[in-house]
Amino acid sequence: MKCSTICAAFFAAVVAATSDVVQLKTEDFKEFVQDNDLVLAEFFAPWCGHCKALAPEYETAATTLKEKDIKLVKVDCTEEQDLCQEYGVEGYPTLKVFRGLDNISPYGGQRKADSLISYMTKQALPAVSEVTKDTLEEFKTADKVVLVAYFAADDKASNETFNSVASGLRDNYLFGATNDAALAKAEGVKQPGLVLYKSFDDGKDIFTEKFDAEAIKTFASVAATPLIGEVGPETYAGYMAAGIPLAYIFAETPEEREELAKELKPLAVKHKGAINFATIDATAFGQHAGNLNLKPGTWPAFAIQRTDKNEKFPYDQDNKINSKEIGTFVEDFLAGKVEPSVKSEPIPEKNDGPVTTIVAKNYKEIVIDNEKDVLVEFYAPWCGHCKALAPKYEELGQAFASSELSKLVTIAKVDATANDVPDEIQGFPTIKLFAAGKKDAPIDYSGSRTVEDLMQFIKENGSHKATGVLAEAADAIEENAEELAEQAKAATKAGKEGAEEATKSAKSGASEASKSATSGASEASKSASSAASEASKSASSAGSGAASSVKSAASGAAEAVKSAASVVVGEGDDADMHDEL
Ligand SMILES: *[C@@H]1O[C@H](CO)[C@@H](O)[C@H](O)[C@H]1NC(C)=O
Ligand SMILES: *[C@@H]1O[C@H](CO)[C@@H](O)[C@H](O)[C@H]1NC(C)=O
Repeated sequence: MKCSTICAAFFAAVVAATSDVVQLKTEDFKEFVQDNDLVLAEFFAPWCGHCKALAPEYETAATTLKEKDIKLVKVDCTEEQDLCQEYGVEGYPTLKVFRGLDNISPYGGQRKADSLISYMTKQALPAVSEVTKDTLEEFKTADKVVLVAYFAADDKASNETFNSVASGLRDNYLFGATNDAALAKAEGVKQPGLVLYKSFDDGKDIFTEKFDAEAIKTFASVAATPLIGEVGPETYAGYMAAGIPLAYIFAETPEEREELAKELKPLAVKHKGAINFATIDATAFGQHAGNLNLKPGTWPAFAIQRTDKNEKFPYDQDNKINSKEIGTFVEDFLAGKVEPSVKSEPIPEKNDGPVTTIVAKNYKEIVIDNEKDVLVEFYAPWCGHCKALAPKYEELGQAFASSELSKLVTIAKVDATANDVPDEIQGFPTIKLFAAGKKDAPIDYSGSRTVEDLMQFIKENGSHKATGVLAEAADAIEENAEELAEQAKAATKAGKEGAEEATKSAKSGASEASKSATSGASEASKSASSAASEASKSASSAGSGAASSVKSAASGAAEAVKSAASVVVGEGDDADMHDEL
């Protein structure tokens, strides 16, 4: 008996020591990826809390997937910095699927063993699996959503169409096909036909349209969405991309959500394909109600969002939520009889600073209805990067403040948490250029957030090709070159320290946050570590010479440290839904 206890402990230790996850370094990473057809790589940092949480799941998946010849590897980014940079690693953990060195895609599943296994197994299968009368039944239930096409052996066109759809959506669903006419008949479809099998709602949907790629994609997206699903970190992006309005049912407890889902299910059936219905946990994501112009805290609540135009239609929180009342509201909404609710700060009385303030009520006037190139920063008051950008953005505004230039270019900002704007904002800050004559196709800015690069962007992509003037900087350089060098040195030092500070807070923050909030921490550590790189960036740009950027480097570094800290402390809890998901 004693032996069995000791032996068990011994074997456990041995098992723990022999991992099926291969740790790679810069020297052997590429060779390994070339030698193996399918590799999942985790880029991690030893201090990262989410990485630690992932570790046992990753181990389990590696052991299971070993039999299928799918390799799981990991790379320590604190050791292999250049390698991680080469693959664009920005946060930890980052998971990427490698099919050789030229075909790399982000891992799109959850960080759980069963998700890792299911996702990678799908990656290893051909995009479309051949099914037969012997395998069909098992195949139908092999995943949550399974699509099986039925077409004739000589129907090359349908075969190709289905293959192209499957190649694009293989991460989302499992695809199969058969040319067995008897099977099609047994399933009640005519060749070419298609059935979507699912583990929820009615179990299956039959495709009835013309067999073309667009129709199949639309069908798949509608049929794969549960009648009343749940909005959460895993599903939010899918609902936003679905192309139809989303009706939210906010309630605090699982029981209440279930009860309301049951009450409103007839509406979800009636309006299937026109509106998605989903419950949302008001305890965890109550803040999101604010984005829909509901009053957070008054539950249950109901609102519809037009995802394509970001219009919100909150249901009066004094009214009852039942199928009759909500039914009328939904009918009115579909008939265009409900006005969207627009949240706006008041139009500022004075608005003649170098940076123009936009609110929802003057958005059209300042951004759209004029012949200027308008650069818009969409920010959130709590966003650290936005605070770090503020002095630089002000300086950018100054550069276009002359009476000549201000006729051509407007530098503007809008608090996107307090004002409804028609644009889809993925994160903060988002910067877009609405060029004169092309206001319907704004260009996203993705360059570094320096005054020089932003000016170059406006010059290159604006219709007026206007060049801003950094008057103050030019003067200062001539006047005081020596002092400038001194300041540059000091700023570089401050920047370095700032970066170190930020990294430290990011480290402790990430592990702290990971204990309480799950998705909050990765955001926090990401923001904090990029705040650190911002800080060192502004510090090094300080050396380049512009007087004002010297000043802002120092304050930028300080800001970055502060904001990194605030990100770590605060944002895990009250981050905006958009940001968190
Ligand atoms: C689709 O075409 C491929 C390639 O020609 C073929 O191998 C496969 O059997 C076809 N699928 C069906 C279900 O007939
Ligand atoms: C102008 O816009 C294009 C397209 O978005 C972008 O690739 C390019 O970098 C922009 N120019 C500058 C100077 O940022």
